[in-house]
This record gives sequence, structure tokens and C-alpha cells, in this order.
Amino acid sequence: MPISFDESKRIFKLDTKTSSYIFQVFEQNYLVHLYYGAYIPDNGVEDLAMRCCNASFSPANAIIGEHGFSVDSWPMEYSCNGTGDMRISALAIKNHCGNASTDVRYVSHRIFKGKPALCGLPSLYTMSDDDATTLEIETIDKVTGAKVFLLYTVFENYGAMTRSVRVENSSDKPMDIQRVYSACVEFPTMDYNMMHLYGMWCKERTLTSHHLAHGIQSVHSKRGSSSHTHNPFVALAKDDATEDFGEAFGFNLVYSGNFAADIEVDFNSSTRLIMGINPTDFCWRLDPGESFTAPELVMVYSNAGVGEMSRIFHRLYSNHLIRGEWKNKKRPLLINSWEAAYFDFDDDKLVAFAERAKELGIEMLVMDDGWFGVRNDDRRSLGDWYVNENKLKGGLSSLIERVNALGLNFGIWYEPEMISPDSDLYRAHPDWCLQVPGREKSIGRNQYILDMSRKDVRDNIYEQMASVLRNNKIDYVKWDFNRNLTEVGSALLPPERQQEVYHRFVLGTYELMGRIVNEFPHILLENCSGGGGRFDPGMLYFSPQIWCSDNTDPIERLTIQFGTSMCYPVSTVGAHVSACSRTGYETKGNVAMSGTFGYELDPIKLTEEERRIVKKQVKDYHKYYDVIHFGDLYRLIAPTENSHRCAWGYVSQDKSEALFTFVTMLRCQNPTFYVRLKGLDPDKYYIDDETDEIHSGALLMNAGFNLKNRPCSDGTSYTIYLKEVKNK
Ligand code: GLA
Repeated sequence: MPISFDESKRIFKLDTKTSSYIFQVFEQNYLVHLYYGAYIPDNGVEDLAMRCCNASFSPANAIIGEHGFSVDSWPMEYSCNGTGDMRISALAIKNHCGNASTDVRYVSHRIFKGKPALCGLPSLYTMSDDDATTLEIETIDKVTGAKVFLLYTVFENYGAMTRSVRVENSSDKPMDIQRVYSACVEFPTMDYNMMHLYGMWCKERTLTSHHLAHGIQSVHSKRGSSSHTHNPFVALAKDDATEDFGEAFGFNLVYSGNFAADIEVDFNSSTRLIMGINPTDFCWRLDPGESFTAPELVMVYSNAGVGEMSRIFHRLYSNHLIRGEWKNKKRPLLINSWEAAYFDFDDDKLVAFAERAKELGIEMLVMDDGWFGVRNDDRRSLGDWYVNENKLKGGLSSLIERVNALGLNFGIWYEPEMISPDSDLYRAHPDWCLQVPGREKSIGRNQYILDMSRKDVRDNIYEQMASVLRNNKIDYVKWDFNRNLTEVGSALLPPERQQEVYHRFVLGTYELMGRIVNEFPHILLENCSGGGGRFDPGMLYFSPQIWCSDNTDPIERLTIQFGTSMCYPVSTVGAHVSACSRTGYETKGNVAMSGTFGYELDPIKLTEEERRIVKKQVKDYHKYYDVIHFGDLYRLIAPTENSHRCAWGYVSQDKSEALFTFVTMLRCQNPTFYVRLKGLDPDKYYIDDETDEIHSGALLMNAGFNLKNRPCSDGTSYTIYLKEVKNK
């Protein structure tokens, strides 16, 4: 059984094939954390909780303090505010007396097969009850009547578990949740590097890493979305861990709004990590009988390096997060009009794109921003989701018929959560956008933000979208989101609920997305937020792919896609070949192939030579689709400042084929370079598709090979495709 409870010691043990997570109901019903790491068969680790207990006048429980126990220094399973634990708190609830001292203790638990869905929130799911086992612990703060349920689900076959928290008000007075992190995780030492993904527009999810230091280190978003600047992902990699060896713990929050990941190293040099909704500007009024659910945290353990941590995330998300008809279906090879035409198009121009695209083997035309209202630039019409018939003469159906007649499917762009001040919708409903009394509304990309916490607003946008999607043959929707939230207030909520709006906004967006996905399950939804400003597991629950970045330069994309691969599978990474000029088309194709693949350019402007390359890429896309999308990723050379090359590969599950890609970012004086491949079967023999050379997997992975005769000038790249040979 992956989850067990030892009645005599009151110890919970949560096992996957590779990891164990152990905690105990200690005296006075405190939940004390004991162990998280490599799988161990037994549970006798009670002593691990004992820590030097006097940080500085460390408070103690009056009954058991003399046993050397203090919540200020022992590893606590879910840390509370104001009752002795002076380190970072996962939970703080302000009660009707006005104080926020909080103290939850164990009451009971239940263990059951399967995994419950979270109310109003995206979460990992199971296909059958055998996929996962869940532990729900009930705790209570006896003084205030706050019941706090700690949820743990173990995905035994993946080395992964999920956590969440539900708070119920069982008292007859209102209470205010000031912070409710989704999990608290304790480690006895501080010998870890903290890895996370920072960035900005056009530079999303850049991997950075630093050693833990005493004190608190955090990554946050308070932009209203998960954001370009920090992703809701952190990993703790042991000091001696590398890409291929050692322990790595990955944490990824299934949430698209303000998040916080806080790590504190205390006086004992012990480490506590808490992750969840950012408490800044958050406060949730819980009336008697109401409950609140915190988003889900995914926790992955690897004892085979950071690379294996990523592969576990990839498998887990491909099987238990991505949903719907497009889950395992081959994605269409599309061309998007944005970088080709921006707002300057009409029906004839789009049909001309489609004609050329068809000749190249492209399967879908996506009409980006500019088709609705009077949207001839980015200053107007968001919210007016009706077709601009001056541009699309004869309407949308006629355009789609012409595109379909050429044999291409059709996709369309929306930005449902936004409103332009210059729009019919804003003129009719100025109160529908986020705003706070007496303050000017900040503008961002010339637009305001709709109050997604309001059902009437969501209903209006839903009906506008649904009428277009019902009456036209639309196969794909790009769902964009192009600014940060500011002046976050709702005209409908009372003052004591205004700090709920950030979270209610996210819940409203999820509800709207869910309605679209449910009514139009055949539509492939691709999320976007000025590129990858909302690339998170919450969005992936609704859209199986997300536009990774507005930066389509293949050399800069290496860093972005490398960071993205830390936890997000390749099938989710929107990547296109564009007309940007830094490298040739081969490299643009080789980099975009490590994503959904498509084009973002004017196909009419391609030269004969470029058309030849594109046709070859289209063939390669089909040839390599399965190994890339259903294989495992192995990162070989990271695109760091010190490396002049970047390399990675995909190996099929049965290890019978592999595709490795090498890109020279900057030529160096001495490009001779040995590289050892990874992920192959040492006992199999592989033939190189291009040279017909045959080598064992053992040779390719241990001796490696020399790249000296391969292209190595700036921006060049090549791939090596290996296939198993049975009779060498
Ligand atoms: C965002 C997206 C782009 C494009 C534009 C349209 O910036 O990231 O891909 O769709 O909006 O306005």
C-alpha cells in the first residue's frame, strides 16, 4: 500500500517506487515531519525530528515543552502563525477576536484509492482509482473552529505526490484566511541548490540556481498571473547532484495567479519550503459553514539527477494533467498570421497565405489578433468579439470555407479577459473592469482588465465567444492575456472581500475556460500571455499547449526552451519558425521541432531555397513526431554563458530510436568536442540515419563521439537520428 499508518507509533508513510515521505502525530497531536527522500522500507525515523530546540527564547508547549520539543525548531508538517513557530508560516487565520494566532492539531484521517478533484481549481487527475492513493488528514484549531484538511495524493509509479489544503469554518463566526500555503516541506539540512525560472517578456523561464543561505529566499508573483518574471516552479538539488546523478526535489504549483515559494534556512541549518497563493494582497473571508481550497502543489523526487526530475514531471503531466481530445493526438502543423501580417490583413491575404502554406505541407491557418471590432491596431476593440467585415469581406464563414477548401483547418485568436477603453463593451459597461474607488486605472498595452470574478461579465464574454465558435468551423483557439493586474477591486464585492479579487479573478478565468473546453471539446486551445507569461500547470489543465515566448530567435529560444523543459513536457511548448534573421532556416526548424512546431511568417516571401528547407522540415516533423512527443528528454549541453553549444535529445520509450540535436550558439576557436549521448540502451546497436555507421548504445553513451567534422559556425545546427538495428 503506497500510504500506510502505523497505529502504535502514529506514523504516516507515503511511498512511491523511488521515494518515501514520513510524518508523525506527535504528543498533543502536533503533526511533526520526519523524512522526505529516497525510498526506505521501514519507518523508524522518529529521532530525525529532534532538533536543537532553543533558537532564541524558543517558546514551548506548556505540557510537553520539557521533553525538548518546540514548534520553533522541530520540523512541522504544516506550520502555523503566532503560536510559537517563528519561522515562515503556511497558515494564518484571523479570528473574530481580531488576532491571527493559529494552531491546528491532528484529529483524524482517511486513506482511499484515487484522487478527488479540487473545487473550482485545476489539478492532476487519475484515469482509474489504481493510479493514485490519497490521504486526507483532518486537523482543527480548537480555539477558532477552523478545520484544516491536509490532502496528499501519491502517484506511486512516478516518484511524485500532490498536496493541497482545504479550510472549513466550523464555528458560528466569520474568520479571515490571511495565508494558506498549499504545503510545507521540511529538510534537515541546507546542502541544496535552489533552482528556479526567472525572466521577462521575450526571456521567460531562464534557469538560475544558487546555494541556499541562512534566512528566507523566495520567488513570487504579484502580477495577477503566474508571470514572465518568475514561474511557479522551484527545485532543491543536493549539493552533489548533477543533471544525471543525485537527489533533486521539484515543486510546481498548479495555479495561474499570484504565487509564492518561500524557503527558510533556520538556526539549525534546517530548511523549510512553503509554496502556494501569495499572501500579499490576499485575504479570504470565510463565513460559518464555508470552505476554501488552496491550489495543488506537485512534488517530484528524483534520485537520478535533475534530468530525471524533469522526465518525471513530463510523464506525469502528459498522462495526468493534459486532458481532452488533444491529450495524445498529433497536433496540427500550423501557420500563424501574427509576425507575417500583424493587424494588416484581409480575407484575400489570408487565403493567399493558406495557398502557399498548403503547398509546403502546413495543415492549419491561425488568424491572430485583428479580426474583430475595428481592431486595426492594439488601441481598441478588445471585448467586441464580432467579425470586422471590412477586413473579412463576406464574413468569417466564407473565409473559413475558402481556407478549408484548400485543405487547411482554421484557428482564431481571442483575449477574453481584457477590455479596451475604446470598445463598445466598455462604453456600455465601464464598471465591468477591475477598479478601485477614487484611483485612476493604470493602462497596459492600451487595455484594462475585465472583472472575471463577476458572473455577468463571464457570461457576456462566454456568449460572445460561443456564438462565433458555434457558427463557424473553428478548430483552434489562441487564448491571449496581455497585461498585469492593477487596481484590483471589484464593484460587486463588499470591502471585507476586496482582497479576494486576485484569487477570484483566477477562479473566474478557470470557470470561463472550462466552459469553452466543455462545450467545444474538439477545439485545440493554445494559451498565450505576451508569449509565455502564463506558462503554468493551471493553464495546461485547459490548454494542452502554450505559446512559449514572443521571442522566436532560435538562439535565444534555446535558453527559454531549456528552462521550460525543467518541468513542462515538449508537447506543451508552442514553438514556431519565424522570419527573424539571426540563423538559417535549418536551425530555426531544429529548435522549433522541440515544441509543437509551426510557422509564424509570410510564406509568400520565402525564397526557393527556403521553401525547399521548409518542405524537408515538414517531412521531418512527421518522421520524428513520435520520438519527440512520446519519447524521453535528455539534456546534454546546457545553453549557459560558458558553453558555445547546446544539445539535447529524445529517446523512445522502448529505446529503439532517438533524435539528438546540436546547436552552435557561438563558434569557438577550438570546436573539437566530445559528447556522450544519454538515455540509450547500452546493449542495443544503433544505426546513424545519415552516415550508416553502427555503434552500440554503450559506446555512444560511454565513449561518446567527436563532433569535429560537424558544422560549427555561429547559429548552425544538425540532428542525429539513431535507429536500433537487430542484426548488426
Ligand atoms: C501577444 C502574443 C502574440 C500575438 C499578439 C497579438 O503579444 O504573444 O503572439 O498574438 O499578442 O496582439
